[in-house]
This record gives sequence, structure tokens and C-alpha cells, in this order.
Amino acid sequence: MEKIVIVGGNRLVGDVNISGAKNAAVAIIPAAILAQDICRIENIPNISDVNMMIRILHQMGAEVKMINKNTYEIDTRNIVSHIIPNELTKHLRASYYLIGALLGRFHKACVAMPGGCDFGVRPIDQHIKGFELLGASVSIEENAMVDVTAERLTGCPVYLDVVSVGATANIMLAAVKAKGLTVIEQAAKELHIVDLANFLNLMGADVRGAGTDVIKIRGVEKLHGCTYSIIPDQIEAGTFMVAAAATGGDVLIKNVIPKHLESITAKLVECGVVVEDGDDCVRVVAKGRLTRCNLKTMPHPGFPTDMQPQMTVLLAGADGTSIISEGVWDNRFRYVEQLARMGASIKVDGKIAVVEGVEQLKGAPIKAGDLRAGAAMVIAGLCAKGTTEIENIDHIDRGYEDVVEKFAALGADIKRVNTPEPESMAEVG
Ligand code: EPZ
Repeated sequence: MEKIVIVGGNRLVGDVNISGAKNAAVAIIPAAILAQDICRIENIPNISDVNMMIRILHQMGAEVKMINKNTYEIDTRNIVSHIIPNELTKHLRASYYLIGALLGRFHKACVAMPGGCDFGVRPIDQHIKGFELLGASVSIEENAMVDVTAERLTGCPVYLDVVSVGATANIMLAAVKAKGLTVIEQAAKELHIVDLANFLNLMGADVRGAGTDVIKIRGVEKLHGCTYSIIPDQIEAGTFMVAAAATGGDVLIKNVIPKHLESITAKLVECGVVVEDGDDCVRVVAKGRLTRCNLKTMPHPGFPTDMQPQMTVLLAGADGTSIISEGVWDNRFRYVEQLARMGASIKVDGKIAVVEGVEQLKGAPIKAGDLRAGAAMVIAGLCAKGTTEIENIDHIDRGYEDVVEKFAALGADIKRVNTPEPESMAEVG
């Protein structure tokens, strides 16, 4: 068991390089199944969610060659099975993309219900609706395996009832080799939807409109291999921006697309932070106490829900009262009780949090409840007076490459330490 130990109070100063986008990588890697060829994918973040997805493809029979820690060549010609056992997929939300990709290639898929962060109910009814409209029959078996089969897939209109990133991408995957035209209405516009569409198109697909709320997919007979580089991670970049701001720092955040960060930049500026855009970098400078702001998370191009916990930490130490409304998930404020242990004053009522800024957070032993909450705990530890010990850091490793090394290089007093397993566990082995 490992934990992260932080002695707070250091301003973050220096440069940091942002890795490739997790949520693009976990869609693009399974999309390679559709190629039946070799794809070289660059700028893959070295994080546990992605490594799990690569392991799953390998176990399915794909040949996976690591060129360097962020580049892989994936040859999906020899994949034969459309069944993926539960123990591989249960911790990974993005395992649902395997359903769309296998359905597109083999017209059948049998994949366990996806796992991932727990923010209340996370249904996949819109994914299923899309598969059924394309001509598949879907059943969820007693052992929670999702079984999907289709004699043929035929393009069709799909009107999503909610804006869903996963359903939009999954329907794209299932439809690229279907016969005829599929039109997804009320599609998600997230950056990784566009990245996935670009990857599919480079493999020979015909996907238009990604990044708008209507995506048109004209089915093609065959796809082929390609070389592709994944976009920088908006959320990792945003996390470092907020950490720089909350510690009163001066950080150059490199290998980003500044346009992708506009919603985050706008909120930081509202709080009194200076953000300067370069061609492929942003500089974040903060001096003195930051001020309050209100925030509502929304699908892209709104403020990303995956940045909500990190901003809550910043506002917990800002001057004044901020109101944060969560517009995507039903239950994404569970981490607030950990911040309360550090002296934060936050009241949650359903999907709204009222944050009264306090002068200073205090170090405490806390837990990372999920990936972005874990990132928020790191920022809280960096700002706090004294020592913060964060447990359950495997959540953080799911989505942040070299998180401790990157913060340490910016001057944070942060380290990863091994904690002895409780005796009873050690005995069990
Ligand atoms: C993706 O999850 C991301 N995960 C999440 O990031 C992110 O929080 C979320 O999109 C919203 O931006 C990946 O890309 C792997 P949704 P996803 O389908 O696809 C409802 C992170 O930290 N809904 O867009 O699962 C759902 O309940 C992770 O990196 C249905 O009702 O999210 C939610 O309220 C955490 N039926 C809303 O839509 C469905 O069939 C948005 O969910 C699907 C979703």
C-alpha cells in the first residue's frame, strides 16, 4: 500500500509538461480493434487506466509493441474473441468502448458492465439504445455481462436523451462500418470525441461534425492502420493550473492547446489569477489571496465536471462565499468530508455546494475517494499548513502520469511512501 505525503505551503514555480489525454486514449486504443491492421499511437499517457486497456487488448490477442513509454504499436489483426472477462474490465469505466468496437468489427460483443469512479448511478441506457437502433439485440446477463449481437448493422438516426460522452463515442465506434448513414443528434462535443473522430477518419472512416451536437457517420467497408498522436489532457492541464493558482505560484504549463483550457482560464481569471496563453503553453501566475466565484459544471464547452473538485479546493481557501453547482453527475461532492477534516467550510445540498473561504487549510490524514477527488486532495495538501497524508492513491494513478514527480519538480514537498500492510492482511498474503 502506498500513500502520498505532502508538507504544504510551498509556492509552485517552474515548468510542467502535460501528458496525452486519458479520456481520448481509453477510446482510441479500443478503436484500433476496428482497423484489423497496425496502428501506431503516440502521446499515450502512462497511467493505470490506459495500461489496463492495453492489457485487455493484449489478452484479446492483439500484438502490442511498446516503442517508448508513451508510444505503442497495436496490431489488432489476430484478435479473435469478442468476450472479455469481468476481472479485467470491472475497475475501468472506459471498458464500455470495447462493446462498440467489438460490435463494429465482429457484430458481437460480450463485455462486463463497466466500473470506474462512483458518482451515484452511472447508467449505459443511451449506449444500448444506440446499439439497438443500429440493429443489435442487447441483453444484460445475470453475471452482469453485456451481451450484444447483430446480424447486420444499419445506419440510422439516434437522438440521445442526455448528452453522454460515452454513448456518443460508443455509437460512433459501432457505426463506422455499418451500412449507410448514422446521425447522432444531441451528441457530446467533448475534446476527446473530436480526437476519436480524427483517429477514425485517419483509419479511413467517414465521420463529420464531431465537436458539434450533430455527428454524421457514413459507414465504410474497411478501415486501415495509421499513425496518430493523442491530444494533450485538458483535465491534467487544468489540475496544474488550479494547483499553481491555489499555491500563489508561477507555472508554465507546456504541451497544451490553450483553446481547450478556455473555460478553466475564465474561472481562474475571475478569481484574480493571471493566465497568459502561448502557442502550446499557458503561464499561470497568482499573487495574494484569490477571490470567490460561482461555478456550474456542464457538458463541453461548459466548465468540465472533471475539474469541479480541484476548483472547490481553490475556492475553499479564497476570500468570500462561492456557490458550486454540479450539472453532470448526481453525487460528486462526496470528497467534501475529507476537506472538512482539513478545516474547509463547505455545505452540500444535493448537487450544490456552498463554500465559505477559510484563511488556511490544515494538513490532515485524508483519502482519495475517486480520481479527480484525489487530485483535489493533492492540491489541498499543497495549500495546507502542515502535513497531509493521502490514502487510496491508486485512484490518482488511474489518470495522472508521474503526479508526484511533476509536483516535486515544481517545488512541492511531496513524496510517495510505502505503508506496511495491516498485520491481518499481511498474514493472508
Ligand atoms: C465521461 O464519462 C468521462 N469518462 C468522465 O470522466 C466525465 O466525468 C464524463 O464523461 C462527463 O464529462 C471517460 O471519458 C472515460 P457521460 P461518461 O456518459 O462517458 C448520464 C474522469 O474523471 N447518462 O457523459 O461515463 C450520466 O448518468 C471521468 O476522467 C445516462 O443517463 O459520462 C451522467 O449524468 C470521471 N445514460 C451524464 O449522462 C447513459 O447511457 C453524463 O455521462 C449515459 C450517461
